[in-house]
Amino acid sequence: MSARHFLSLMDCTPQELANLIRRGIELKDLRNGGTLFEPLKNRVLGMIFEKASTRTRLSFEAGMIQLGGQAIFLSPRDSQLNRGEPVSDTAIVMSRMLDAVMIRTFSHSTLRIFAENSRVPIINGLSDDLHPCQLLADMQTFHEQRGSIQGKIVAWIGDGNNMCNTYIEAAHQFDFQLRIACPEGFDPQPKFIAIAPDRVQIVRDPREAVAGAHLVSTDVWTSMGQETEEEDRLARFKPYQVTGELLDLAADDVLFMHCLPAHRGEEISLDLLDDPRSVVWDQAENRLHAQKALLEFLIEPAYHHA
Ligand code: CP
Ligand code: NVA
Repeated sequence: MSARHFLSLMDCTPQELANLIRRGIELKDLRNGGTLFEPLKNRVLGMIFEKASTRTRLSFEAGMIQLGGQAIFLSPRDSQLNRGEPVSDTAIVMSRMLDAVMIRTFSHSTLRIFAENSRVPIINGLSDDLHPCQLLADMQTFHEQRGSIQGKIVAWIGDGNNMCNTYIEAAHQFDFQLRIACPEGFDPQPKFIAIAPDRVQIVRDPREAVAGAHLVSTDVWTSMGQETEEEDRLARFKPYQVTGELLDLAADDVLFMHCLPAHRGEEISLDLLDDPRSVVWDQAENRLHAQKALLEFLIEPAYHHA
């Protein structure tokens, strides 16, 4: 199978990622300028969501429509996946009808099986391991506001989860230093740290991680699928709340990001999203523009009619 997939930031070269960020900014300008740009006319994206979503579904669906194509939403509850049809068979069939497939799933291996059996690009819309589309939006947002992130200090506060793992990949691909502050027992998996051992530092004190940082990011303490652990996690993560006072320890021009949805009063103080250093709404909007760049990159131009 020769299609290009996007399961991880590591599926692209640093140059390709830089081009995607630049292209996301261009596509944003085109849209904001009212220019119609429809290179994916007649192209169809399939979307499978095994977990809930607001931003990912909206941005892929709206993005395909804006590029001249369509997106089809499949809930596993209503498809034959729920009745035991193998992922591999589903991938073969879907890839014969569609031009790309986006999947939000639990096990990262589901994405791999899909990719191994697909003729068309497979896009990771979040797995338990990684959320690479979110990082495209985060990197675009930083670039728009502050220029290159190369050599900057990024602080990740909280859980060593799928977002944290993807920040490690980003540290490697975009060449920044990443300080991760998480409670013991919630470190990112060693296989991710091994991607960028020279760029990643794990600390326990959020203040140490944030000192002088140019970007501070966090995420929910209980990710989708971990609901039974919520009570324990609330107690363990309490010292890891990001507040305005914590951001005061960072660089003067620090940006605060959160992939959203946020739980005000848990991982962030009640008013943090209103802090002038927070860019979460631009970050959310950039899911649309960054993923349009990704779709344009992955899906071949529309058929040419004689
Ligand atoms: N950040 C993000 O992926 O949001 P959704 O869960 O709403 O898609
Ligand atoms: N870590 C969160 C991210 C949601 C966008 C989760 O996996 O639920």
